[in-house]
Amino acid sequence: MEVPVGDSVLSLTGINKRFGAVQALTDVHLRVDAGEVVALVGDNGAGKSTLVKVISGVYTPDSGEITFDGKQVAPRGPAQAQALGIATVFQDLALCDNLDVVANLFLGQEHTAGPILNEVSMEQEAWRLLRSLSAKIPSVRIPIAALSGGQRQTVAIARSLVGAPKVVMLDEPTAALGVAQTAEVLNLVERLRDNGLGVILVSHNMADVQAVADRIVVLRLGRNAAEFRTEEVTTEQLVAAITGASDNVVTERAQRSRFTDRSTDAPGGSDG
Ligand SMILES: Nc1ncnc2c1ncn2[C@@H]1O[C@H](COP(=O)(O)OP(=O)(O)O)[C@@H](O)[C@H]1O
Ligand SMILES: [Mg+2]
Repeated sequence: MEVPVGDSVLSLTGINKRFGAVQALTDVHLRVDAGEVVALVGDNGAGKSTLVKVISGVYTPDSGEITFDGKQVAPRGPAQAQALGIATVFQDLALCDNLDVVANLFLGQEHTAGPILNEVSMEQEAWRLLRSLSAKIPSVRIPIAALSGGQRQTVAIARSLVGAPKVVMLDEPTAALGVAQTAEVLNLVERLRDNGLGVILVSHNMADVQAVADRIVVLRLGRNAAEFRTEEVTTEQLVAAITGASDNVVTERAQRSRFTDRSTDAPGGSDG
């Protein structure tokens, strides 16, 4: 399939979001192209989930612009975002354990023929979606409870594809998974990219990020701290950007001397 690489499908500029006394996001920008995986990384509290929720319409930003598919948008809620073409796989997946794969894929967006569910059409579409992910699910008629963690993640990702989105966001999709299942989910992320989607992958696992991301955006304390092309960055550099250790040599020194200046500027300072 011919994939239009390099077209920015989603871009955010000047995003601010405050919760009471906490400035969760300050002047944040982010861009993802069609056929690109952008990893969003950062320490706990860096603002990753808040940014995902701003994009998916769970939160309204205090200011800033979201441009999707060439138009300015302001999604109100995940359903509206998904209808626009911005799908999100939240960390808790929100699958119904007692329902089968087909029922979960089309929950709330069932195919119907008049008052009757069109099970045949949903089952065919389920297989089509799973095939597009090269997913290993034995049957679409088994309950979610019978699936492994990796297979559940697969179903959640397949569900995000109902309605043919252009951007998919995944919040910590491998956090609860073992090595083999993590590899399976990373393969799915690559399939999404191969299918021309823009993918935003939130993760704190540097190995995962370095395995699949094209670009890595680092948030720290609610701000853009650094951005790298994956092939141009080492794990050490990433960790340093996440923790702010890379600031130490330069910024911290500058800050120390600023504090020193300030103390000499204070009333009664020894400046004169
Ligand atoms: N609903 C909320 N109410 C108040 N503070 C929040 C809320 N959501 C997030 N925060 C705060 O915003 C900051 C960023 O949080 P979050 O986006 O969850 O970070 P991350 O996902 O990178 O760990 C944190 O200081 C967090 O405590
Ligand atoms: Mg989070």
